[in-house]
Amino acid sequence: MHTRLVKVDNTVDNDERYQQVVDCLKKGELAAFPTETVYGLGALATDPEAAQKIFEAKGRPSDNPLIVHIGTKEEAGHYADEIPEAAVRLMDAFWPGPLTLIFREKPGVIAKSVTAGIGTVGLRMPDHPVALKLLRLLGGPLAAPSANRSGKPSPTKAEHVLRDMHGKIPFILDGGATGVGVESTVIDMTSVPPAILRPGGVTAEMIESVIGPVRSETSAAEAEAPRAPGMKYLHYSPDAPVWLIKPDPGKIEAAIGSFRSEGGKVAVIGPDELRTDTADWYFATGPYGDPRELAARLYDALRTCDDTDASVILAVETPAEGMGLAVMNRLRKAADGKRLDP
Ligand code: TXA
Ligand code: MG
Repeated sequence: MHTRLVKVDNTVDNDERYQQVVDCLKKGELAAFPTETVYGLGALATDPEAAQKIFEAKGRPSDNPLIVHIGTKEEAGHYADEIPEAAVRLMDAFWPGPLTLIFREKPGVIAKSVTAGIGTVGLRMPDHPVALKLLRLLGGPLAAPSANRSGKPSPTKAEHVLRDMHGKIPFILDGGATGVGVESTVIDMTSVPPAILRPGGVTAEMIESVIGPVRSETSAAEAEAPRAPGMKYLHYSPDAPVWLIKPDPGKIEAAIGSFRSEGGKVAVIGPDELRTDTADWYFATGPYGDPRELAARLYDALRTCDDTDASVILAVETPAEGMGLAVMNRLRKAADGKRLDP
């Protein structure tokens, strides 16, 4: 299959470009598109065969359900059986935006392969003009996980999608680099109090300011019996092993020295201030303590490591607060829990 990269910007009349992608989705094919978080790999969520193609293209285990994207808040009621009052307030506060709400599903509407048959459905209205225009023209729900091969870092640029999905899907809508950089927050609205299953662009503090206390299942889910089925798989991993390290120049130099003395080549992903020439590559991710900037650049940095022949990647930790919690959640998975404390 030939994969076409379709650039959509405001300088050309691009309705025709969208239309060919919409036609392809309606025929049960896949198309990748940008959201404000990461690029998604979309299929019509009501079409079981189309949804099945997502799992094949990604190499994704079928017990891991997909997020369903909608173009308006009103559509939530078409797919969710019951929308609690707190959910309405969250939708009003954060949609469109990086927040996925889990509801009990309305039976028989969304394809079983999308929900993995677990009786709930994750809905989100993305805050990106390309995604919203696509959804409006399609007039239906789009099941879309991140558009990476399963296990690799999520794509934040169309080139990332092309690298992973070349020859596997007919279309990639290219809307430039995404803004947030890590995936949406996932919150389970079927439990009382609601439970955050995956930290993301909307922080627990932001949610609690609207609906009061929520539970955070992230650390429990990382350990065992995950409620968001996706949490149990190895994730966000470049080719070389990743080790987390403290933001301490002495420790970083020591670690680089030790890997290099064994013949290793070292890539470091870290804040601007800790840049060091001792590393073979240093990918700077913004000022220390700016988790939003780090989130925006993290997956590109992890993916760029695959273009080097680094034998090891050191990733400098950031405080796990606010947006930093989402970033550290992804980094711990990329490192598969490995942490250097030399
Ligand atoms: O920002 C995002 O959320 C991106 C963009 C493309 O929208 N999408 C994304 O999808 O990250 P994906 O499939 O890579 O991650 C979806 C996560 C997984 O951890 C999955 O297990 C969880 O959400 N999830 C989806 N539906 C669920 C459900 N019904 N119950 C519990 N967890 C669910
Ligand atoms: Mg993903």
